[in-house]
Amino acid sequence: MAKVKTKWVCQNCGYETPKYIGKCPDCGSWGTLMEETEVRSSVTSAQSVVLDNGPVSLINEIEITESIKLPTGFEELDRVLGGGLVQGSLVLLAGDPGIGKSTLILQTAGNICTSGKKLLYVCAEESGSQVKLRAQRLNVNSDKLYVYSQTNLEAVINQIDEIKPEILVIDSIQSVYTSEITSSSGSVSQIRECTNILMNIAKNKNITVIVIGHVTKDGNIAGPKVLEHMVDTVIYFEGDKYKSQRLLRSIKNRFGSTNEIGVFNMAENGLEEVTNPSELFMKERTDISSPGSVIIASSEGTRALLVEVQALVGATSYPSPRRVSTGLEFNRLLQIIAVLEKRIGLNLSKHDVYVNVTGGIEIDEPAADLGIALAIATCYRNVVVDPNCVIIGEVSLSGDIRNVSNLEKRIYEAQKLGFKKVIIPKLNKKLSDNYNIEIIQVSRLIDAITACVSKQKA
Ligand SMILES: Nc1ncnc2c1ncn2[C@@H]1O[C@H](COP(=O)(O)OP(=O)(O)OP(=O)(O)O)[C@@H](O)[C@H]1O
Ligand SMILES: [Mg+2]
Ligand SMILES: [Zn+2]
Repeated sequence: MAKVKTKWVCQNCGYETPKYIGKCPDCGSWGTLMEETEVRSSVTSAQSVVLDNGPVSLINEIEITESIKLPTGFEELDRVLGGGLVQGSLVLLAGDPGIGKSTLILQTAGNICTSGKKLLYVCAEESGSQVKLRAQRLNVNSDKLYVYSQTNLEAVINQIDEIKPEILVIDSIQSVYTSEITSSSGSVSQIRECTNILMNIAKNKNITVIVIGHVTKDGNIAGPKVLEHMVDTVIYFEGDKYKSQRLLRSIKNRFGSTNEIGVFNMAENGLEEVTNPSELFMKERTDISSPGSVIIASSEGTRALLVEVQALVGATSYPSPRRVSTGLEFNRLLQIIAVLEKRIGLNLSKHDVYVNVTGGIEIDEPAADLGIALAIATCYRNVVVDPNCVIIGEVSLSGDIRNVSNLEKRIYEAQKLGFKKVIIPKLNKKLSDNYNIEIIQVSRLIDAITACVSKQKA
């Protein structure tokens, strides 16, 4: 027996209600609820697969099956995944339209197939020949790589039974649909139901499923936000569309840490790995003698990254001065400005302050505080920070410099890239390593300002 049900679903967060309301009580957005009709057969295929799950066991009787991690051929991607693709897991790769999601997955598919695995690539947005054209440009070719241009998930399931792939790619989740429900593809109900079915395919057939999802600001198309909690791993592919650099970042990972990032470069014939991102970021540094430019060492998972922070401080022409931050949290900037005013005596109340982290990196750790503070302070005083110096440290509200995590790794990265000097928080213990770089320990913000300015007249 088929049941017909209509409901209103928030296209932003997936909240459901039987009646129309203007404002979503869950995420607070206005006008995002859309009516969705759902026709369900009494037992859905998703439910029927769940029915034959294993028995209830005592925890000490459960045997651990070692999860097999399949290398993707990209070390940068493997690191973000926590060592590789876990067999039987469901991975969501999300990103803005046109950022290069299909490119990344097609190249990865090529790598995986070269290692002898069978992969089914479902292109729901493009024709087979479009994919072939891209594959040619990316130099991807394999007799293990199957391409299927299809939007109906039931047809895909039939092909899975036929081809028996070890990896399944769905490009994209917004453009596939299941006949189980009648909502249009891209609606929250469809996305949720399709993900459910794909999750069951992953767990019950032990197939690794990679799902591509678009992130859009437009409230009418369901963003992958609603499925983040359903999948094992969520990876974001980001970057400035007008620049070639791309970042991979994991937001959720059931099999590894989430603070790793992967760096790629988009070139004519596809994505190239950037194994030493600090080097790339430092190369982008053009004017090392301008006031307000500072190098900080940020810690991203297992590695440290050197990035440039730029500040611009100038007399304001607005009634209240502007504070603008790119790549770092706005409230952090306000706090650092407050400390500079109170503890150093900088009068920034008539100055606009702009702070920019280059390289498209988002800094959200306090270890960048000191660098940001010095960038603002030196720009205000129009002095140049020693271009051979890297700055590390957290600034407390009292203007003291606090220690940071992974300090040694950060110092080592600075040394590796040929910097001559690091400014770090004053330590109570000795540093365990012998470094080949001048280390200046500071306990107060004011000392750091003196220490970072180059001896030779700027
Ligand atoms: N012929 C080409 N030569 C060089 N680069 C190209 C070429 N065609 C596409 N690109 C690059 O690939 C990017 C698009 O990649 P891709 O199609 O993988 O993105 P996507 O995230 O899958 O996009 P969509 O949202 O349309 O699915 C373009 O923005 C461009 O940078
Ligand atoms: Mg695409
Ligand atoms: Zn909502």
